[in-house]
Amino acid sequence: MAGALNRRKVLVVGGTGYLGQHLLQGFSEIEDIPYDLAFTHHSNSVPLHPLLHAIPRAVAFQVDLRTGDGFDVVSQKFGHPHVVVNCAAISVPRACESDPDAAMSVNVPSSLVDWLLSFREGNTLLIHLSTDQVYEGVKSFYKEEDETVPVNVYGKSKLAAEQLISEKCPNFAILRSSIIFGPQTISPVPKSLPIQWIDSVLSKGDEMNFFYDEFRCPVYVKDLVIVILSLTQRWLSEGKKMQLLLNVGGPDRVSRVQMAEAVADFRGYSPSLIKPVSASSVDRGVSSPADISMDISKLVRTLNVVPTSYKEGVKLTLGIP
Ligand SMILES: NC(=O)c1ccc[n+]([C@@H]2O[C@H](COP(=O)([O-])OP(=O)(O)OC[C@H]3O[C@@H](n4cnc5c(N)ncnc54)[C@H](OP(=O)(O)O)[C@@H]3O)[C@@H](O)[C@H]2O)c1
Repeated sequence: MAGALNRRKVLVVGGTGYLGQHLLQGFSEIEDIPYDLAFTHHSNSVPLHPLLHAIPRAVAFQVDLRTGDGFDVVSQKFGHPHVVVNCAAISVPRACESDPDAAMSVNVPSSLVDWLLSFREGNTLLIHLSTDQVYEGVKSFYKEEDETVPVNVYGKSKLAAEQLISEKCPNFAILRSSIIFGPQTISPVPKSLPIQWIDSVLSKGDEMNFFYDEFRCPVYVKDLVIVILSLTQRWLSEGKKMQLLLNVGGPDRVSRVQMAEAVADFRGYSPSLIKPVSASSVDRGVSSPADISMDISKLVRTLNVVPTSYKEGVKLTLGIP
C-alpha cells in the first residue's frame, strides 16, 4: 500500500489530441512503467474507447481549460501529478483567428497553472507545448533567445501562455514545436495531418499549389515523444530545478514544395503535380510566418537526442519499408 501511495503520477492534458495520443502510447510502451498515468479530454470529437482499450493503464478525466472545471476531480481521484504535459490547445491557426477569445481562453492555460500552484507539495514539472509561430518568420534558423513577434492570434496566444508559465511556475519546460507529422493516432483525430493530406491530394492525380517560400523544420511525432519522456524521466529521477525553453524541430529546413516532393518521390507520383506558388498569392484567412525554421542545437545539446530527418520521417509515416 505504501508503494502505491508513493507512486509517481503523470498527467497528459489534451490526451485525445494528435500529440497527446502518441504521447500516451509512448508512456504506455515503457516497460514496468514506474508511474500512474492519466489524461484529460474535453469534447467528444475523438472516441475515448479505442484509446482506453489500447492503453488500459491510463485513467481519463474530462476537464475544460477555459474554466478549470474537472481539475478538482483529478485531485480527488488521481491525486496531484508530479509531471503534467499540456498538449491541449486550439491548434489550428485559422480557428484561432476567427475566435480570438476562445483561442486565448484555451491556449493560455491560466486554470491549469492556478491548479498547479494550489498544490502544497510544489514538486510538479509542467511540460508545455508551444509553437514555432511565436517567431515572426523573417529570417532562418531562429534561436530561443531571438525576439518573438507572432503574426497571428495563434502565435500571440501561445506566446502569452509562455509568459504566464515562465512567470508563475517554479518548474517548467516550454517546447516550441514545429509542424508535427507522423502516423495517425489510435483514435483518429478529426483534423487533417500534413503528410497524409499531401498524399491524398497527389494520389488523385490533380495538380496542387504548394508554397516555395514558406519554411519549417517539421518534427517527427515520435521524436517529440522521446523529448517529453526524457524530460519526464529527468525530473522524476533528479528533481533538480528546471526552467527550460527549447526549440523542437527536425534537422531539416524545408519549404512546402519540398515537403510535397518527398511524398511524391516515395509514392511515385509525378513531380509535375506540385505547382510552386508564393504564399502571398493565396488568402488563407490568417497571416502565416514565412520562414520560422529553427536552430535546434540547444535541444540536441540538452537532451542528447538525434531527431529523424524529414525524408526518413515521411517514409515512416507512409509505412514504406
Ligand atoms: N500539430 C502541430 O503541427 C503542432 C505544431 C506546433 C505546436 N503544436 C502544439 O502542440 C500541442 C498539441 O497539438 P496537437 O496537434 O496534438 O493538438 P490537437 O490534436 O488539436 O489536440 C488538442 C487537444 O486540446 C484539447 N482541448 C481543446 N479545447 C479544450 C478545452 N477547452 N479544454 C480542455 N482541452 C481542450 C482537445 O480535447 P478534445 O479533443 O477531447 O476536445 C485535444 O485533446 C498544442 O499545444 C499545439 O499548439 C502543434
